[in-house]
Parts: sequence; C-alpha cells; structure tokens
Amino acid sequence: MNNLKNLRGTVDLLPDQLIKWQNVEKILMDQLSRASIKEIRTPILEMTELFIRGIGEGTDVVSKEMYTFVDRGKRSCTLRPEGTASVARALLQNGLSSNPFQKLWYMGPMFRYERPQAGRQRQFHQLGVEFIGYESVRSDVEIIALAWDILGKLGIKELNLEINTLGDVNDRFNFQKSFLKWLEINKNSLDSDSQNRMNKNPLRILDSKNIQTKKALENAPKLFNFLSEKSHKRYSELKKQLEVLKIPFVENFNLVRGLDYYTHTAFEITSGALGSQATVCGGGRYDDLIKQMGGPSTPAIGFAIGLERLILLAGEELEVPRNTDIYIVNQGLIAESLAMDLSRKLRNYDLLVELDLSGASFSKQFKKANRLKSKSIIVIGDNEAANKEFIIRLFDKSTQENKEEVISFENDIKLGKWLNKYLLAQ
Ligand code: HAM
Repeated sequence: MNNLKNLRGTVDLLPDQLIKWQNVEKILMDQLSRASIKEIRTPILEMTELFIRGIGEGTDVVSKEMYTFVDRGKRSCTLRPEGTASVARALLQNGLSSNPFQKLWYMGPMFRYERPQAGRQRQFHQLGVEFIGYESVRSDVEIIALAWDILGKLGIKELNLEINTLGDVNDRFNFQKSFLKWLEINKNSLDSDSQNRMNKNPLRILDSKNIQTKKALENAPKLFNFLSEKSHKRYSELKKQLEVLKIPFVENFNLVRGLDYYTHTAFEITSGALGSQATVCGGGRYDDLIKQMGGPSTPAIGFAIGLERLILLAGEELEVPRNTDIYIVNQGLIAESLAMDLSRKLRNYDLLVELDLSGASFSKQFKKANRLKSKSIIVIGDNEAANKEFIIRLFDKSTQENKEEVISFENDIKLGKWLNKYLLAQ
C-alpha cells in the first residue's frame, strides 16, 4: 500500500484546503444564480469523437493532451478536457429547439495530459458559463462583465482583460490563404514548434511565445486587416460597450485561444499575481460549433475559469472555517443516547453542532471543545441524564463572562430557537 500514490498532475484536496474551495464555490454559485444562470451537469466521460469534432483535430488539446481509451464495448472514450463541447452536445441531444436561449453554468473536473507545474494540473477544475442562442454584442459584453465581476467579487486584484476578434469563417479563410503564403516564405525564421503547426493549426502560430517567432510575425499579414466590415463593426461596438461599463481592456491581436471553435470575440483574463500560468479565465464566441455538430445554426459565447488558479488568487479570509456553535460533551450510556438525540434536534436550527464520540474523559472532551473555539458547550453526564436535563455553558454578552445554565430536555426546541438567534449573531 505504501507504494500507491496518486497519478502525476492530480491532487488530493484535504479538509483544511477544502474550506477555501467551498467558500469560493459558494460565492461563485451566489453570483451565478443572481444573474439567473442555470446549472447543467454533463458526464465526465464522452465519446472521443465529440472533442475531435468540437475542439478540432489540429489543436494541442485534442492531438496531444486527451485521456483517451477504448472501453469494454470497444468504444473510444475520452475524459473531458473542457466543458463547451459537452454542453453543446447535451443541448442538441435534449431538444435545444424547445428552448433556444439558455444561460448555463457548470463546475467540475477536466483532464489534460500537460506538463504539471504550479497552476497547471492534469486533472483540474473549471467553472464554465455558456450563453446559447445569443447573437448580439450585448451578450459578449454580459459574458465578459460576468467573468470580470466574479473575479472582482472574490477580491482578486491585478487583473488584466485582453480581447481580440477572430472574425467569421470567411474572414479567417481569407487571412489564412495569405498567412500560409507568408509562412512558406518565412518558414526558416520560425521556431520548430511553429513550423510543425504550419499545416495543422497555422492560426496558433500567432500565439507563439518564442521570441524569434514573435519578432518575425511583426511583418506577417494581420487577421485584423482581413475582417469584413460587419466583423469590424461588431468588434468596435464591443469595445465601446466595455468602455461604457468601465471595464478596462487591452487589445491583443495575437490572442487566438487554443480551441478551434472560436469566432469573433476571444478574451482572456490574466493576473499578475500568478506565475507563468497567469490565465485565470478564457473564453469567446463560438457561433459555428452547434451547427458543426449537426444542430441548427446557433450563436453562442462563454468562458471558463480555472478553479485551482482562482483558489491561489482568492484572499486568505476565505480559508477560515465556520466556528462550531455547540460542542456536546457527553459520557455514560443514557447520556450518550440523549446527546445523540439532542445533536440531531439542534442541527435543525442551522447550528453547527459537533457531538463528541470519543468516550474520553470529560476534561479531554472539554479540551477539544476549547481547541475548536466552540461558541458554546453542552454537557450531559450520568447525573444530568438521570434528571432529564443538560448543562449549557456559553458566553454571556451582557456580563461579558461565561455562564452556565441547566436546561430540561423538555425545553430543547425552545433552546434551539434561542441559540439560533443568539449564537449565529456572534
Ligand atoms: P481554456 O482556455 O482551455 O478554455 O481553459 C479555461 C481555463 O481553464 C484557463 O484559463 C485556465 O485557468 C484553466 N486551465 C486550463 N488548463 C488547465 C490546467 N491544465 N491546469 C489548471 N488549469 C487549467 C476552455 O476550456 C473553454 N471551454 C472556455 C470556454 C467556454 N470558451 C467558451 N466557453
């Protein structure tokens, strides 16, 4: 058993770490439900074909990073590397036409066989949001504003929003023709990775981090110059509306994103507080994806936030656990049974109640209650059990001292109501 370890790039999340995760998730879910966005859950395992067709065969995600295997029924299956393709599939399969406008979110694990490092794992988590059926620039703005506000709500600073437009299929086709010609002529000025991408996914070369390639690209044709008037207008309108909302952005004409389905708006939010894996959120419009998957022409836009990176950025105040409201110290056969009963009743009043199950001495149980900084302690021993009562010890706000009271089990409900008001206000 000693040799058994988790797989490289996967992480155990332990109870102390999960306090922050749960607090962050709660804030996220509150924000999303306030924006009237509904949850969707799709399987973690999908047919491989979905991602080949949805994300694109030439992308790194599909060609190098997927966890793919053949199952016992001889089907090729893949652990989802992202959520957008799955959401599109689920909507198509479950009757998109009956509700062509949907605002959806999902949260859960994704899998990519990448080189693990700080902020990059092979099993990681995303919060994704997808607006399906929405075509107007206003939906782009709402999506970007939502991502921006979610990060703001978590108190994350040093954020930079980068935007770009990738135009529509025709714009990109025209650009690609000219870009490929340029690439042929300038092949030798590119790094080997970019050279390999020439035939598979030339657009991705624009995103290269290689200094030599970046320099050479300065003289390459620009996608922006191949945009139709309509695409130009759309992009200008987006910038105008972001300015009205005072959401600061930087234009990055090399931002092409790593998945093939994008059209028009593409954006990323990075944080200076993260290391080399600085992108906390990425998204964009994908107007052709649902049609490509065999559905009706359906415009859509969305984003995903990497939760591991979000947790790294979120403030320490979210690491603080909720205090125990009542710690029940108990010993003796009847006392233990009464204590169990009482703990169940008190939890109905929204109180965090911990029942000591150790059977240890009273003094050890008290020590544990103090270590947990429990707001109050209930004591039930043989004497109390015989009298059908228990002792409660709590901090009296009026005298600023601890006080003890004996309560009859008959009054447990009254006490529960009172404690709910008294302790939860502390
Ligand atoms: P993505 O840019 O591939 O987009 O991923 C979104 C975010 O997931 C990244 O910005 C990053 O924070 C996080 N992420 C990606 N890979 C890893 C990893 N290996 N380890 C840790 N975090 C990671 C998408 O997945 C699109 N589905 C987003 C989207 C939704 N576009 C439209 N709708």
